[in-house]
Amino acid sequence: MLTLGVNIDHVATIRQARRTVEPDPVAAAVLAELGGADGITVHLREDRRHIQDRDLQILRQTVRTHLNLEMAATPEMVEIALAVKPDYVTLVPERREEVTTEGGLDIVGQRDRMAAVVAQLQAAGIPVSLFIDPDPAQIAASAQVKAQFIELHTGRYAEAANEMIRGKELALLSEGCAQAIALGLRVNAGHGLTYWNVQPVAQLTGMEELNIGHTIISRAVLVGIERAVREMKQAISG
Ligand code: PXP
Repeated sequence: MLTLGVNIDHVATIRQARRTVEPDPVAAAVLAELGGADGITVHLREDRRHIQDRDLQILRQTVRTHLNLEMAATPEMVEIALAVKPDYVTLVPERREEVTTEGGLDIVGQRDRMAAVVAQLQAAGIPVSLFIDPDPAQIAASAQVKAQFIELHTGRYAEAANEMIRGKELALLSEGCAQAIALGLRVNAGHGLTYWNVQPVAQLTGMEELNIGHTIISRAVLVGIERAVREMKQAISG
């Protein structure tokens, strides 16, 4: 069954805008799970611009589904992952040189480094997913470095300028999914998926999990604003 990983980074982004305590991504994770999320995804960035170390530590204790830690393949992040033990790690690019032309991780260009990080994490019992473009060479390299999962980058599909390009991008995702499964990889997908474009990706044969953040948090702000204003009117009316 296809599962939904909810990325709650944007909740932390709002909090960091004021460096205060609200909204707490830990509370958001609890509510996302109540809403049916199958997993919670957070990206701990090197500059800590949204999710903080404290969030990760508390989420590890409170998430009842599974916790997917997105991170760069750096010694600092590997050390944190080994200590926190998320249910799986998704390696994502943070620096320009780690990125292929389209935007996913360049596994082909850094095979040895990726193989070492994958081996280190998987030896500690943490499955690794590689966030890559639907590019046959990157998919083959992901199998070679012995990752358990790939996450297909859906950004180009999501940002397609017209239906013809979108159809081509969907075909690349479909072929990439089939290639990966034939190589023994498990397949997730994400980035830029919305309420309007998710359905064709959700229907791809063999797809296991979609990681979605921006569109869900955006909708949460809008569907919640009326009630929030009403409650403030009550608060000021004494
Ligand atoms: N998957 C990965 C690897 C990501 O880096 C992101 C964005 O943080 C997402 C999925 C979610 O993308 P979006 O916020 O556009 O739904």
